[in-house]
Amino acid sequence: MPIELRFLGHSGFLINISGTYVMIDPFITGNPLAYTIFDSLNITDILVTHGHGDHLGDSIRLAKKYNATISTIFELANYCSKKGTKVQGVNMGGIVPFKWGNVNWLPAAHSSSTPDGEYAGSASSVLLTIGNKKIYHAGDTGLHYEFRMIGEFYKPDIALLPIGGFFTMGIDEAVQATKWLNCSQVIPMHYDTFTQIETNVQEFQDKIEKETKAKCIILEPGKIHAI
Ligand code: NI
Ligand code: MN
Repeated sequence: MPIELRFLGHSGFLINISGTYVMIDPFITGNPLAYTIFDSLNITDILVTHGHGDHLGDSIRLAKKYNATISTIFELANYCSKKGTKVQGVNMGGIVPFKWGNVNWLPAAHSSSTPDGEYAGSASSVLLTIGNKKIYHAGDTGLHYEFRMIGEFYKPDIALLPIGGFFTMGIDEAVQATKWLNCSQVIPMHYDTFTQIETNVQEFQDKIEKETKAKCIILEPGKIHAI
């Protein structure tokens, strides 16, 4: 059965693995471009790359609603636990097994703090291995050379990359990251949600298809890409 990636807007994704659902960075409340209809799903896990409000987002509310477990960097996991959710605290370089696959926690060049302003450990990115597919979510990040290591060592099939600039990589950096990741598909994220990160996603698609071997998939919020 194919894995279905549904874009929730911003950096949020809902992944359907044969009827088990996993979320990454669900940011719904306060997101003008969010996709919100996902009632009565079997959401077992929420993966959070870092503590900023547009990534931790609605994770605590949704984890309670669905009785899901939040997996994230140790310090941020402790924060979520104090707010009453089930958590799994992880750290950089860890390989974490789940019923549906496993996740490597990998670097991101970014900061992290909780909505209350507390230290939240490192910002991170995540590589999901589900069956024979590898999905890499870069979190919020600037361009860094670890992308090359991730491409050489982990060999992702598909990368979800921020392209909006200002807080993260912009278009040209994300094109370079795609080359280093050496993946066959890329989905742009973290753009157009706020005025600072408005960008021309068509320019990203054109550059990806001209300069790399990857296919660029632009998803409107709510749309699904099957891999
Ligand atoms: Ni951030
Ligand atoms: Mn962000």
